[in-house]
Amino acid sequence: FFANVELVPGDPILGLTEAYNADPRATKVNLGVGIYYDEAGRIPVLDAVREVEQRLAAEAKPRGYLPIDGMPDYTKATRELLFGVDSPLLAAGRVATTQTVGGSGALRTGADLLKKVLPHATIAISNPSWENHRAVFGAVGFEVVDYTYFDAARHGIDFAGMLADLRKLDAGTVVLLHACCHNPTGADLTVDQWREVIEVLRERDLFPFIDIAYQGFDQGIEQDAAAIRLLAESGIATFVVASSYSKSFSLYGERVGALTVVSGTAEESRAVQSQIKRIIRANYSSPSTHGAALVAGVLGSPELRARWEAELGQMRTRIHALRAGLVEKLAANGAPEFAFIQDQAGMFSYSGLSRAQVDRLRDEFGIYAVGTGRICVAALSLKNLDYVAEAVAAVSRG
Ligand code: LMR
Repeated sequence: FFANVELVPGDPILGLTEAYNADPRATKVNLGVGIYYDEAGRIPVLDAVREVEQRLAAEAKPRGYLPIDGMPDYTKATRELLFGVDSPLLAAGRVATTQTVGGSGALRTGADLLKKVLPHATIAISNPSWENHRAVFGAVGFEVVDYTYFDAARHGIDFAGMLADLRKLDAGTVVLLHACCHNPTGADLTVDQWREVIEVLRERDLFPFIDIAYQGFDQGIEQDAAAIRLLAESGIATFVVASSYSKSFSLYGERVGALTVVSGTAEESRAVQSQIKRIIRANYSSPSTHGAALVAGVLGSPELRARWEAELGQMRTRIHALRAGLVEKLAANGAPEFAFIQDQAGMFSYSGLSRAQVDRLRDEFGIYAVGTGRICVAALSLKNLDYVAEAVAAVSRG
Protein backbone atom coordinates (compact mmCIF):
# COMPACT_ATOMS: atom_id res chain seq x y z
CA PHE A 1 0.00 0.00 0.00
CA PHE A 2 2.86 2.40 0.66
CA ALA A 3 4.97 1.59 -2.38
CA ASN A 4 4.13 4.87 -4.09
CA VAL A 5 4.41 7.14 -1.09
CA GLU A 6 6.67 10.02 -1.94
CA LEU A 7 9.46 11.01 0.44
CA VAL A 8 9.01 14.73 1.13
CA PRO A 9 11.63 17.14 2.49
CA GLY A 10 11.85 17.67 6.26
CA ASP A 11 10.33 20.69 7.97
CA PRO A 12 12.35 23.87 7.26
CA ILE A 13 12.59 24.67 10.99
CA LEU A 14 12.08 21.51 13.05
CA GLY A 15 14.03 19.49 10.46
CA LEU A 16 17.07 21.63 11.32
CA THR A 17 16.91 20.46 14.92
CA GLU A 18 17.07 16.87 13.68
CA ALA A 19 20.16 17.68 11.61
CA TYR A 20 21.68 19.62 14.52
CA ASN A 21 21.13 16.72 16.93
CA ALA A 22 22.90 14.37 14.52
CA ASP A 23 25.90 16.71 14.12
CA PRO A 24 28.86 15.39 16.17
CA ARG A 25 30.77 18.70 16.30
CA ALA A 26 31.21 20.02 19.87
CA THR A 27 31.14 23.63 18.67
CA LYS A 28 27.75 23.32 16.95
CA VAL A 29 25.13 26.00 17.62
CA ASN A 30 21.42 25.73 16.81
CA LEU A 31 20.13 29.14 15.73
CA GLY A 32 17.30 27.49 13.81
CA VAL A 33 14.25 26.84 15.94
CA GLY A 34 12.76 29.63 18.07
CA ILE A 35 13.75 28.55 21.55
CA TYR A 36 15.17 30.70 24.32
CA TYR A 37 18.27 29.21 25.96
CA ASP A 38 19.86 30.52 29.14
CA GLU A 39 23.52 31.36 29.61
CA ALA A 40 24.26 27.71 30.41
CA GLY A 41 22.73 26.69 27.08
CA ARG A 42 19.64 25.15 28.70
CA ILE A 43 15.95 25.79 28.18
CA PRO A 44 15.08 27.44 31.50
CA VAL A 45 12.46 26.12 33.90
CA LEU A 46 10.99 29.32 35.31
CA ASP A 47 10.86 29.56 39.12
CA ALA A 48 7.16 30.42 39.09
CA VAL A 49 6.46 27.33 36.98
CA ARG A 50 8.62 25.11 39.18
CA GLU A 51 6.69 26.19 42.23
CA VAL A 52 3.33 25.23 40.71
CA GLU A 53 4.81 22.00 39.41
CA GLN A 54 5.98 20.99 42.88
CA ARG A 55 2.56 21.78 44.32
CA LEU A 56 0.83 19.74 41.62
CA ALA A 57 3.18 16.81 42.19
CA ALA A 58 2.47 16.91 45.94
CA GLU A 59 -1.29 17.04 45.34
CA ALA A 60 -1.17 14.12 42.88
CA LYS A 61 -4.70 14.85 41.70
CA PRO A 62 -6.66 12.35 39.57
CA ARG A 63 -6.30 12.94 35.82
CA GLY A 64 -9.81 13.15 34.46
CA TYR A 65 -10.61 14.58 31.04
CA LEU A 66 -10.62 18.32 30.64
CA PRO A 67 -13.64 19.94 28.97
CA ILE A 68 -13.33 19.82 25.16
CA ASP A 69 -12.37 23.49 25.05
CA GLY A 70 -9.98 23.28 27.96
CA MET A 71 -9.40 24.25 31.57
CA PRO A 72 -11.67 27.17 32.54
CA ASP A 73 -9.07 28.86 34.80
CA TYR A 74 -6.56 28.70 31.97
CA THR A 75 -8.84 30.07 29.28
CA LYS A 76 -10.10 32.89 31.53
CA ALA A 77 -6.57 33.91 32.50
CA THR A 78 -5.55 33.80 28.84
CA ARG A 79 -8.22 36.15 27.56
CA GLU A 80 -7.51 38.52 30.43
CA LEU A 81 -3.82 38.54 29.54
CA LEU A 82 -4.58 39.21 25.88
CA PHE A 83 -7.36 41.79 26.25
CA GLY A 84 -6.72 43.23 29.72
CA VAL A 85 -8.87 42.32 32.68
CA ASP A 86 -11.10 45.40 32.25
CA SER A 87 -11.88 44.86 28.57
CA PRO A 88 -15.52 45.75 27.78
CA LEU A 89 -15.52 42.88 25.25
CA LEU A 90 -14.89 40.40 28.05
CA ALA A 91 -17.62 41.95 30.19
CA ALA A 92 -20.02 41.69 27.24
CA GLY A 93 -19.37 37.94 26.91
CA ARG A 94 -18.13 38.38 23.34
CA VAL A 95 -14.74 36.72 23.85
CA ALA A 96 -14.44 32.95 24.03
CA THR A 97 -11.10 31.23 24.60
CA THR A 98 -10.27 27.62 23.86
CA GLN A 99 -7.20 25.79 25.15
CA THR A 100 -5.29 24.37 22.19
CA VAL A 101 -2.31 22.16 21.49
CA GLY A 102 0.22 24.98 21.29
CA GLY A 103 -0.01 28.04 19.09
CA SER A 104 -0.01 25.83 16.00
CA GLY A 105 -3.07 24.02 17.34
CA ALA A 106 -4.74 27.40 17.80
CA LEU A 107 -3.96 28.36 14.20
CA ARG A 108 -5.26 25.05 12.93
CA THR A 109 -8.44 25.12 15.01
CA GLY A 110 -9.02 28.74 14.00
CA ALA A 111 -8.44 27.84 10.36
CA ASP A 112 -10.90 24.93 10.64
CA LEU A 113 -13.49 27.28 12.15
CA LEU A 114 -13.03 29.91 9.44
CA LYS A 115 -13.24 27.27 6.73
CA LYS A 116 -16.76 26.57 8.00
CA VAL A 117 -17.74 30.20 8.42
CA LEU A 118 -15.98 31.71 5.39
CA PRO A 119 -15.53 28.70 3.08
CA HIS A 120 -14.60 30.74 0.01
CA ALA A 121 -12.26 33.20 1.68
CA THR A 122 -8.63 33.65 0.78
CA ILE A 123 -6.05 34.12 3.50
CA ALA A 124 -3.34 36.75 3.21
CA ILE A 125 -0.08 36.30 5.14
CA SER A 126 2.90 38.63 5.36
CA ASN A 127 5.78 38.21 2.94
CA PRO A 128 7.65 36.60 4.56
CA SER A 129 5.81 34.84 7.34
CA TRP A 130 6.40 31.90 9.65
CA GLU A 131 6.86 28.86 7.39
CA ASN A 132 4.04 26.93 9.05
CA HIS A 133 1.38 29.61 8.44
CA ARG A 134 1.12 28.73 4.78
CA ALA A 135 1.15 25.02 5.58
CA VAL A 136 -1.57 25.20 8.25
CA PHE A 137 -3.99 27.30 6.23
CA GLY A 138 -3.18 25.44 3.03
CA ALA A 139 -3.92 22.11 4.76
CA VAL A 140 -7.42 23.31 5.57
CA GLY A 141 -7.99 24.19 1.92
CA PHE A 142 -7.56 27.95 1.96
CA GLU A 143 -5.91 29.74 -0.89
CA VAL A 144 -2.96 31.52 0.74
CA VAL A 145 -1.69 34.78 -0.77
CA ASP A 146 1.03 37.21 0.40
CA TYR A 147 0.89 40.85 1.31
CA THR A 148 4.04 42.99 1.12
CA TYR A 149 5.68 43.32 4.52
CA PHE A 150 9.46 43.34 4.59
CA ASP A 151 11.89 45.42 2.62
CA ALA A 152 15.04 43.30 2.64
CA ALA A 153 17.22 46.11 1.32
CA ARG A 154 16.31 48.40 4.22
CA HIS A 155 15.89 45.61 6.80
CA GLY A 156 12.55 47.13 7.77
CA ILE A 157 8.86 47.15 6.96
CA ASP A 158 7.66 48.34 3.58
CA PHE A 159 4.68 49.99 5.18
CA ALA A 160 3.36 51.76 2.09
CA GLY A 161 3.55 48.47 0.19
CA MET A 162 1.76 46.67 2.99
CA LEU A 163 -1.12 49.14 3.09
CA ALA A 164 -1.41 49.14 -0.69
CA ASP A 165 -1.61 45.34 -0.78
CA LEU A 166 -4.16 45.17 2.05
CA ARG A 167 -6.33 47.70 0.20
CA LYS A 168 -6.36 45.43 -2.85
CA LEU A 169 -7.77 42.42 -0.99
CA ASP A 170 -11.38 41.39 -1.51
CA ALA A 171 -13.81 42.02 1.34
CA GLY A 172 -13.95 38.99 3.63
CA THR A 173 -10.31 38.05 3.08
CA VAL A 174 -8.70 36.71 6.25
CA VAL A 175 -5.56 38.71 7.07
CA LEU A 176 -3.01 37.04 9.30
CA LEU A 177 -1.02 39.55 11.35
CA HIS A 178 1.79 39.02 13.87
CA ALA A 179 0.98 41.03 17.00
CA CYS A 180 4.62 41.40 18.05
CA CYS A 181 8.10 39.96 17.50
CA HIS A 182 7.35 39.23 13.84
CA ASN A 183 8.52 35.75 12.87
CA PRO A 184 10.83 35.57 10.89
CA THR A 185 11.89 39.19 10.42
CA GLY A 186 11.84 40.74 13.90
CA ALA A 187 10.34 43.87 12.27
CA ASP A 188 7.21 45.09 14.06
CA LEU A 189 4.63 47.76 13.30
CA THR A 190 4.56 50.81 15.56
CA VAL A 191 1.36 51.62 17.44
CA ASP A 192 0.55 54.35 14.90
CA GLN A 193 1.10 51.93 12.03
CA TRP A 194 -1.22 49.43 13.74
CA ARG A 195 -3.89 52.13 13.84
CA GLU A 196 -3.54 52.66 10.10
CA VAL A 197 -3.61 48.94 9.35
CA ILE A 198 -6.70 48.45 11.50
CA GLU A 199 -8.39 51.32 9.70
CA VAL A 200 -7.78 49.57 6.36
CA LEU A 201 -9.06 46.26 7.79
CA ARG A 202 -12.22 48.03 8.92
CA GLU A 203 -12.76 50.03 5.71
CA ARG A 204 -12.16 47.03 3.45
CA ASP A 205 -14.15 44.61 5.64
CA LEU A 206 -11.20 42.25 6.05
CA PHE A 207 -11.14 39.57 8.76
CA PRO A 208 -8.23 39.94 11.22
CA PHE A 209 -6.48 36.80 12.45
CA ILE A 210 -3.84 37.75 15.00
CA ASP A 211 -0.97 35.44 15.86
CA ILE A 212 0.70 36.30 19.17
CA ALA A 213 3.33 33.75 20.16
CA TYR A 214 5.78 36.08 21.93
CA GLN A 215 3.75 38.27 24.28
CA GLY A 216 6.24 39.82 26.69
CA PHE A 217 9.32 39.06 24.63
CA ASP A 218 9.79 42.53 23.20
CA GLN A 219 8.60 45.26 25.55
CA GLY A 220 6.21 43.74 28.06
CA ILE A 221 2.89 41.97 28.51
CA GLU A 222 0.74 45.06 27.95
CA GLN A 223 2.82 46.76 25.27
CA ASP A 224 3.20 43.60 23.18
CA ALA A 225 -0.59 43.16 23.17
CA ALA A 226 -1.15 46.64 21.70
CA ALA A 227 -2.46 45.28 18.41
CA ILE A 228 -5.13 43.23 20.18
CA ARG A 229 -6.12 46.11 22.43
CA LEU A 230 -6.42 48.46 19.43
CA LEU A 231 -8.48 45.95 17.47
CA ALA A 232 -10.75 45.49 20.48
CA GLU A 233 -11.38 49.24 20.55
CA SER A 234 -11.69 49.60 16.80
CA GLY A 235 -15.31 48.68 16.31
CA ILE A 236 -14.33 45.65 14.20
CA ALA A 237 -16.86 43.19 15.58
CA THR A 238 -15.25 39.85 14.84
CA PHE A 239 -11.67 38.64 14.90
CA VAL A 240 -9.54 35.74 16.03
CA VAL A 241 -6.38 35.50 18.15
CA ALA A 242 -4.04 32.51 18.26
CA SER A 243 -1.69 32.66 21.23
CA SER A 244 1.02 30.55 22.78
CA TYR A 245 2.82 30.20 26.12
CA SER A 246 5.64 28.09 24.66
CA LYS A 247 8.07 30.97 24.77
CA SER A 248 6.73 33.25 27.50
CA PHE A 249 6.52 30.39 30.04
CA SER A 250 9.37 28.34 28.52
CA LEU A 251 6.94 25.42 28.20
CA TYR A 252 7.61 24.42 24.60
CA GLY A 253 6.89 20.70 24.86
CA GLU A 254 3.81 21.16 27.02
CA ARG A 255 1.99 22.57 23.98
CA VAL A 256 0.09 25.31 25.75
CA GLY A 257 -1.74 27.59 23.36
CA ALA A 258 -5.14 29.15 22.97
CA LEU A 259 -7.62 30.20 20.33
CA THR A 260 -9.62 33.28 21.28
CA VAL A 261 -12.55 34.34 19.15
CA VAL A 262 -14.26 37.71 19.38
CA SER A 263 -17.87 37.59 18.23
CA GLY A 264 -20.42 40.34 17.65
CA THR A 265 -22.65 39.32 20.59
CA ALA A 266 -22.60 36.91 23.52
CA GLU A 267 -25.12 34.74 21.69
CA GLU A 268 -22.94 34.55 18.60
CA SER A 269 -20.02 33.72 20.85
CA ARG A 270 -21.84 30.70 22.29
CA ALA A 271 -22.67 29.44 18.80
CA VAL A 272 -19.08 29.87 17.64
CA GLN A 273 -17.83 28.05 20.72
CA SER A 274 -20.16 25.13 20.03
CA GLN A 275 -18.61 24.83 16.56
CA ILE A 276 -15.09 24.94 17.97
CA LYS A 277 -15.93 22.16 20.39
CA ARG A 278 -17.14 19.99 17.52
CA ILE A 279 -13.96 20.63 15.59
CA ILE A 280 -11.79 19.66 18.54
CA ARG A 281 -13.83 16.61 19.50
CA ALA A 282 -13.44 15.22 15.99
CA ASN A 283 -9.76 16.08 15.96
CA TYR A 284 -8.13 15.23 19.32
CA SER A 285 -11.16 15.14 21.63
CA SER A 286 -9.87 17.33 24.44
CA PRO A 287 -6.56 18.92 25.43
CA SER A 288 -4.04 17.70 28.00
CA THR A 289 -3.91 18.89 31.57
CA HIS A 290 -0.41 19.50 32.76
CA GLY A 291 0.81 22.57 30.85
CA ALA A 292 -2.48 24.39 31.30
CA ALA A 293 -2.43 23.66 35.04
CA LEU A 294 1.04 25.19 35.25
CA VAL A 295 0.05 28.37 33.42
CA ALA A 296 -3.25 28.70 35.28
CA GLY A 297 -1.45 28.14 38.58
CA VAL A 298 1.00 30.95 37.86
CA LEU A 299 -1.48 33.43 36.43
CA GLY A 300 -3.99 32.72 39.20
CA SER A 301 -1.59 33.69 41.98
CA PRO A 302 -0.67 37.40 42.24
CA GLU A 303 2.67 36.49 43.80
CA LEU A 304 3.62 33.89 41.18
CA ARG A 305 2.37 36.07 38.39
CA ALA A 306 4.66 38.89 39.55
CA ARG A 307 7.54 36.43 39.72
CA TRP A 308 6.77 35.17 36.21
CA GLU A 309 6.63 38.72 34.84
CA ALA A 310 10.01 39.42 36.41
CA GLU A 311 11.48 36.26 34.89
CA LEU A 312 9.99 37.10 31.50
CA GLY A 313 11.51 40.56 31.85
CA GLN A 314 14.91 39.00 32.47
CA MET A 315 14.63 36.88 29.32
CA ARG A 316 13.61 39.94 27.32
CA THR A 317 16.44 42.07 28.68
CA ARG A 318 18.94 39.35 28.00
CA ILE A 319 17.80 38.99 24.38
CA HIS A 320 18.24 42.74 23.87
CA ALA A 321 21.75 42.44 25.34
CA LEU A 322 22.56 39.48 23.06
CA ARG A 323 21.48 41.51 20.05
CA ALA A 324 23.74 44.36 21.12
CA GLY A 325 26.58 41.92 21.78
CA LEU A 326 26.22 40.27 18.40
CA VAL A 327 26.19 43.58 16.57
CA GLU A 328 29.27 44.74 18.45
CA LYS A 329 31.20 41.56 17.80
CA LEU A 330 30.21 41.46 14.14
CA ALA A 331 31.51 45.00 13.79
CA ALA A 332 34.73 44.00 15.56
CA ASN A 333 35.07 41.19 12.98
CA GLY A 334 34.74 43.63 10.10
CA ALA A 335 31.00 43.28 9.52
CA PRO A 336 29.42 46.57 10.71
CA GLU A 337 26.58 46.20 8.20
CA PHE A 338 24.63 44.04 10.69
CA ALA A 339 23.81 46.99 12.99
CA PHE A 340 20.10 46.59 12.12
CA ILE A 341 19.95 43.40 14.25
CA GLN A 342 19.84 45.62 17.32
CA ASP A 343 16.59 47.27 16.22
CA GLN A 344 14.68 44.04 15.60
CA ALA A 345 12.21 42.67 18.14
CA GLY A 346 11.79 39.27 19.76
CA MET A 347 13.71 36.07 19.25
CA PHE A 348 14.51 36.34 15.60
CA SER A 349 16.64 38.28 13.24
CA TYR A 350 16.28 38.17 9.52
CA SER A 351 20.02 38.40 9.05
CA GLY A 352 20.02 39.00 5.33
CA LEU A 353 22.30 35.96 4.86
CA SER A 354 21.66 34.11 1.63
CA ARG A 355 20.85 30.42 1.45
CA ALA A 356 24.42 29.73 0.26
CA GLN A 357 25.81 31.60 3.26
CA VAL A 358 23.47 29.71 5.61
CA ASP A 359 24.72 26.46 4.04
CA ARG A 360 28.32 27.53 4.65
CA LEU A 361 27.52 28.37 8.28
CA ARG A 362 26.20 24.86 8.75
CA ASP A 363 28.80 22.96 6.73
CA GLU A 364 31.92 24.84 7.83
CA PHE A 365 31.00 25.95 11.34
CA GLY A 366 28.15 23.72 12.56
CA ILE A 367 25.94 26.78 12.99
CA TYR A 368 22.34 26.05 12.02
CA ALA A 369 20.06 28.83 10.74
CA VAL A 370 16.85 28.72 8.71
CA GLY A 371 17.47 28.70 4.95
CA THR A 372 15.86 32.14 4.62
CA GLY A 373 18.61 33.63 6.79
CA ARG A 374 16.53 33.75 9.96
CA ILE A 375 18.61 33.30 13.09
CA CYS A 376 17.33 32.82 16.63
CA VAL A 377 19.10 35.46 18.68
CA ALA A 378 17.69 33.90 21.86
CA ALA A 379 19.90 30.85 21.32
CA LEU A 380 23.09 32.91 21.62
CA SER A 381 25.11 33.09 24.83
CA LEU A 382 28.34 34.69 25.97
CA LYS A 383 29.92 31.30 25.30
CA ASN A 384 29.03 31.08 21.61
CA LEU A 385 28.76 34.77 20.68
CA ASP A 386 32.37 35.18 19.55
CA TYR A 387 32.25 31.98 17.53
CA VAL A 388 28.97 32.90 15.84
CA ALA A 389 30.11 36.47 15.11
CA GLU A 390 33.36 35.26 13.56
CA ALA A 391 31.53 32.69 11.46
CA VAL A 392 28.81 35.07 10.25
CA ALA A 393 31.44 37.70 9.42
CA ALA A 394 33.48 35.06 7.54
CA VAL A 395 30.58 33.81 5.39
CA SER A 396 29.28 37.32 4.71
CA ARG A 397 32.67 38.31 3.31
CA GLY A 398 32.99 35.24 1.08
C1 LMR B 1 9.90 28.81 15.25
O1 LMR B 1 9.45 29.56 14.38
O2 LMR B 1 11.06 28.43 15.28
C2 LMR B 1 9.00 28.36 16.37
O3 LMR B 1 7.77 28.98 16.27
C3 LMR B 1 8.95 26.91 16.50
C4 LMR B 1 8.23 26.24 15.37
O4 LMR B 1 7.35 25.44 15.66
O5 LMR B 1 8.55 26.48 14.21
